[in-house]
Amino acid sequence: MYDELKEIIEQSNNIVFLGGAGVSTESGIPDFRSADGLYNTKIKYGSSPEEIISHSYFMRHTETFYEYYFENMVYPEAKPNIAHFALAKLEEMGKLKAVVTQNIDNLHQLAGSKNVLELHGSVYRNYCMECGKFYPLKDIIDSEGVPKCECGGTIKPDVVLYEEPLDNDVWNKAYKAISEADVLIVGGTSLVVYPAASLVSAYRGNKLVLINKGETTYDHLAKLAIHDSIGRVFSEIM
Ligand code: OAD
Repeated sequence: MYDELKEIIEQSNNIVFLGGAGVSTESGIPDFRSADGLYNTKIKYGSSPEEIISHSYFMRHTETFYEYYFENMVYPEAKPNIAHFALAKLEEMGKLKAVVTQNIDNLHQLAGSKNVLELHGSVYRNYCMECGKFYPLKDIIDSEGVPKCECGGTIKPDVVLYEEPLDNDVWNKAYKAISEADVLIVGGTSLVVYPAASLVSAYRGNKLVLINKGETTYDHLAKLAIHDSIGRVFSEIM
């Protein structure tokens, strides 16, 4: 299995990676849908995590949103793991063209990846809903209550909340990269959130590789489906 993956990677110089929260669990950031994931963790709020990280909840209960968000979605101390570093190395070697990620943690960039397409935005970018001024995470992380702009407006993280559309430009770039890829490696994602999961269908080649701890509904389309930790897989093949 590892030999087959090694060979697929060796023979290609047009690989695209599509990933999700499972890529960062080995960096200490919980995913959403595993048994110990965010959506299965008991919380003190009356609403579910999915309700809290929605646009309407943000607009109605901004302070509680931020309380949950800073406690559960922001990990400024997290460091990239072997999977992030391996992907950055493949890009440097000229083999990997893009990392398309649903993660908002910036760990691919910290590992050195250059072409990172963040489908769901980033906790590191924040903007004022009134004047549009951008703020880095460090400027808002210690806010008491709702982070406010110098103009008085409310600051919103540049992350895609439920009920919000994806950024068109990022989507188009991701779609193009995947539709032109020779190899698509999908890792650490349950592939249940759309439209992100539908990007697998943009791939037109016959070398789809899935690396995920559990099974996904796309496994039957894969040339190679590896059910293991992504850090372990990359440490075996790099
Ligand atoms: P999920 O939590 O749905 O799926 C993560 C997948 O990674 C699961 O299938 C795990 O089995 C697997 N996994 C966990 N650790 C792993 C590891 N070390 N190696 C390999 N596999 C591992 O997370 P996503 O698919 O990323 O959206 O979720 C998609 C979206 O749902 C997120 O971007 C977020 C969430 O709602 C928004 O917040 C908009």
